[in-house]
Amino acid sequence: MLIFSKKDQLQAHLAPYWHSAKTVGFVPTMGALHSGHLSLMQQSLAANSITVVSIFVNPTQFNNPEDLEKYPRTLEADAAKIEALNPGIIIFAPTVEEMYHGNTVSSHYNFDGLENQMEGAHRPGHFDGVGTIVKKLFEMVQPTNAYFGEKDFQQLQIVKKLVEKEHMGINIVGCPISREDSGLAMSSRNERLSTDERSGAALIYEILQEARQRFQHETIDGVKSYVQHAFESHPEFKPEYFEIADEDTLLPATLKENRKYRAFIAVFLGNVRLIDNISLN
Ligand code: PAF
Repeated sequence: MLIFSKKDQLQAHLAPYWHSAKTVGFVPTMGALHSGHLSLMQQSLAANSITVVSIFVNPTQFNNPEDLEKYPRTLEADAAKIEALNPGIIIFAPTVEEMYHGNTVSSHYNFDGLENQMEGAHRPGHFDGVGTIVKKLFEMVQPTNAYFGEKDFQQLQIVKKLVEKEHMGINIVGCPISREDSGLAMSSRNERLSTDERSGAALIYEILQEARQRFQHETIDGVKSYVQHAFESHPEFKPEYFEIADEDTLLPATLKENRKYRAFIAVFLGNVRLIDNISLN
């Protein structure tokens, strides 16, 4: 299996693919891989001539320095998982220096307001960091198709907007959320939960599913108040936000119109911040 840490080596390997009818599939990750990541890779393998997976913990998208420091870095274990899935996958694992050349700052982006709600409102600078690194990676890999999980639905919409605004001509494929048997959305952060917390965290998806049921016949305010009360009886959870938003604009919804809606949640369990979302109609 090939692991490149230098952009030039990666590009020398990919050039024949760019200059032919072959397709390059790309799965950007920050490592600490779980089955959700592997399912993105499977989708890419099924649809492309070659698949590139990047493993890079991007410092500019962390608004909390402790979160950046604690983020698991498990390159060897990640490479073994990828090799077991398919040894033909190319890994790109650059250093911070290779990506930022000593200038670890984000560009500032206007994603037409998609960046202002939910994760954007609670994690200042996060989407500038994501935009900065995804643009750099796209320029290096020049993929035909790139795969992103719907767990980070706001990020998915923002990456689509980035590609549109920068005229990058890359097809962005959104992939369904992978869940643990309990229903908890798969995330590298789940590793930081204790065994009890991890099984208890199934409550988040249970509440989202109930919210989806209620959305069919209750008002938006009614659904929000149900979610608020549901967490009040479980004080170990500290919800940061629960929002019902238009799927395309991500603007908070107040009245139901003929649009697609999604419920979004961020909640702390202990000191671990978990996010999830569900389509409502
Ligand atoms: O979703 C992630 O893991 C990251 O935000 C991404 C897209 C790899 C950019 O660092």
